[in-house]
Amino acid sequence: MTARIIGTGSYLPSNVVTNHDLEKIMDTTDEWIKSRTGIGQRHIAIEETTTSMAVEAAKRALADADTTADELDLIVVGTVSADRHFPSTACEIQSALGAVNATAFDINAACSGFLFGLGIANAYFTSGTFKKALIIGAETLSKMMNWDDRSTCVLFGDGAGAAIVEAAEDGIISMTQGSDGAKGGVLSCYNRPVNNPFVKNDTALDYTSMNGQEVFKFAVRTVPEAITKVLGEANVNPDEVKYFVLHQANVRIIESVAKRLNQPMDKFPTNLHMCGNTSAASVPILLDEINKKGMLEKGDKIVLAGFGAGLTWGAALINW
Ligand code: COA
Repeated sequence: MTARIIGTGSYLPSNVVTNHDLEKIMDTTDEWIKSRTGIGQRHIAIEETTTSMAVEAAKRALADADTTADELDLIVVGTVSADRHFPSTACEIQSALGAVNATAFDINAACSGFLFGLGIANAYFTSGTFKKALIIGAETLSKMMNWDDRSTCVLFGDGAGAAIVEAAEDGIISMTQGSDGAKGGVLSCYNRPVNNPFVKNDTALDYTSMNGQEVFKFAVRTVPEAITKVLGEANVNPDEVKYFVLHQANVRIIESVAKRLNQPMDKFPTNLHMCGNTSAASVPILLDEINKKGMLEKGDKIVLAGFGAGLTWGAALINW
């Protein structure tokens, strides 16, 4: 038994912030951002929250899958920007959807969150514990940025993507996941400052910090390795893959992966020029986009891959 994706949905905040908008509030240029990353604009939540975006994406995925909320027995949300420490985003979504039969919890695997969620559903399905799951990546990264740090804040955006997956004979063909906690310091964000009479001189930074070049090197090395691994395990040639749906961090990372796999860029759909890096949400948002555009046909072989803070990475070869 494996996990098969039977529906997708996504939500992006209505407020769009272009590179030219950023030029007005910080020392940056559209040319710098586009040439280094490929990003032209991002959606920044004003009214929306991580939960509200996730709920909307989930409703759209349920409709696409022709599934009702009470059929779900599992809800897994990948997020590093939950509205609350607890209850979990997944439990809030369960309540909003009326998914009364689901077990619900969040996972923190940053930009690999959707891939890790898919892996969890796959393992539950294989063991026979659950049969139908809602997997979500949802982030409001804008609230975790230091907006005085132009090297990070221009990269990220907000949004949510969701997929309904069910236990089936055919779906995920092969999958890999990994973590390297020893390198966690290259991309991190401290928790909220402690307000505790027993802790003196708390100096924890409250915002995202990143060593961009180290993250870049990690991504261009690890992602092709992970993809090569899942293809090799399934004895599938990269030429047989219709699309490589990668985490949308930087178009130069995607170009490098395409080159290493010796595959043309038109097999790597992108939307980072419109959305920026939405962390755990980026893979399911892009998957929903190409699904709704009618670019996927039953039986297509698709690779999904995520990578990010932790450090973490994951890749899956699936039959659509
Ligand atoms: N606008 C203008 N200049 C900027 C800038 C901005 N928004 N941000 C940084 N700069 C400047 C730097 O201050 C630096 O100036 P200096 O040379 O005078 O010191 C210069 O641009 C070059 O910075 P550098 O860090 O060498 O650029 P880079 O080519 O490594 O590109 C990233 C920076 C962040 C775009 C790139 O490293 C990257 O994309 N890394 C991966 C990050 C990522 O994907 N993270 C998420 C993973 S999930």
